[in-house]
Amino acid sequence: MKIVQIGVGGWGKNHIRILSHLGVLTAVCDIDPEKSKEYGKKYSINHYETLDELLNVEDFDGAFVVTPTSTHTEIVEKLLVARKHVFVEKPMTYKSEEGEKLARLAEESKVILTCGYIERFNPAVAIVKKMVKEKKFGDLVMLEFHRENRIPLHVKDIGIIYDTSVHDIDTSNWLFNDMPHVVFARAGKIKQDYEDFASIMLGYRNDRVAIISSNWITPKKLRKFNAVCTDAMISSDFITQEVIVENDDGIQIIPNEKQEPLLLEIQNFLGAAEGKNEQIVKLQEAVNVTKIAEAALLSSQKGIPIYLNLK
Ligand SMILES: NC(=O)c1ccc[n+]([C@@H]2O[C@H](COP(=O)([O-])OP(=O)(O)OC[C@H]3O[C@@H](n4cnc5c(N)ncnc54)[C@H](O)[C@@H]3O)[C@@H](O)[C@H]2O)c1
Repeated sequence: MKIVQIGVGGWGKNHIRILSHLGVLTAVCDIDPEKSKEYGKKYSINHYETLDELLNVEDFDGAFVVTPTSTHTEIVEKLLVARKHVFVEKPMTYKSEEGEKLARLAEESKVILTCGYIERFNPAVAIVKKMVKEKKFGDLVMLEFHRENRIPLHVKDIGIIYDTSVHDIDTSNWLFNDMPHVVFARAGKIKQDYEDFASIMLGYRNDRVAIISSNWITPKKLRKFNAVCTDAMISSDFITQEVIVENDDGIQIIPNEKQEPLLLEIQNFLGAAEGKNEQIVKLQEAVNVTKIAEAALLSSQKGIPIYLNLK
């Protein structure tokens, strides 16, 4: 596998470290000449300032796109037309129609395209997913997510729903193994041009519900979720990866080995690109997250629930 990376900003510096460590990285591209040069030198790889130049010169199999959301569609489209496997960071696109277009293009080009909904690869989420699937504590009834932090000043192109709540939207769909049919949200802005706080309610079959609370106001990083099951409540922390079960028998801390979710996510993408049957985020799932984010924004603007019919 020969892999290139497009965009090495705040988040992309993690991908480049892991890809280099895995021995698959051959080139980097960033429109910022300083960064392109810095990372090219640091990892002894070719470096470019434009994707067109990289596509003309480099021979490679797949690409990681870690640029701002507003640039994803144009960059991913060029890579898919060139028949490269693509991992694009979340959210896949700003508009769901653009995501659908990319999904069709990936199918036509017969390449893997996936999107970085990283929490599925968080060992804590994997433990809860297994418990829910095996009905270890009965049926999953309700999910509650809290994701809070100071304002990330570099995010200029989208608000908190598309940047942050999407992680919990995807995790909720993943844990319920279902898509919501109704979305109700309240969101607003205090310090940003786009919304910087949001509370979203997702309604699933059989009155199952997820409540997603995100804000860029709380002055500390907090990322937690609870899964309320018929026989126990499971609490977890995305950062510490701790999982705690509380029921009539008391409180139990589930033994768990902390691992870097991004490493697991990248390894799975590389395996899928090599033709292995690895777990990756499916295109329809990524498009659905964008559709739910669109519905949440619309619901908060209109003050009404938005009904969806997702595949
Ligand atoms: N999965 C996660 O937990 C997580 C966390 C943070 C960010 N992200 C996602 O990662 C992506 C990047 O976020 P970030 O925080 O690193 O942003 P950033 O602004 O810090 O970095 C983006 C980089 O892309 C470069 N760039 C911009 N346009 C480009 C283009 N056309 N071609 C090449 N390079 C270009 C910029 O120069 C910059 O170096 C976003 O989609 C964001 O939502 C995901």
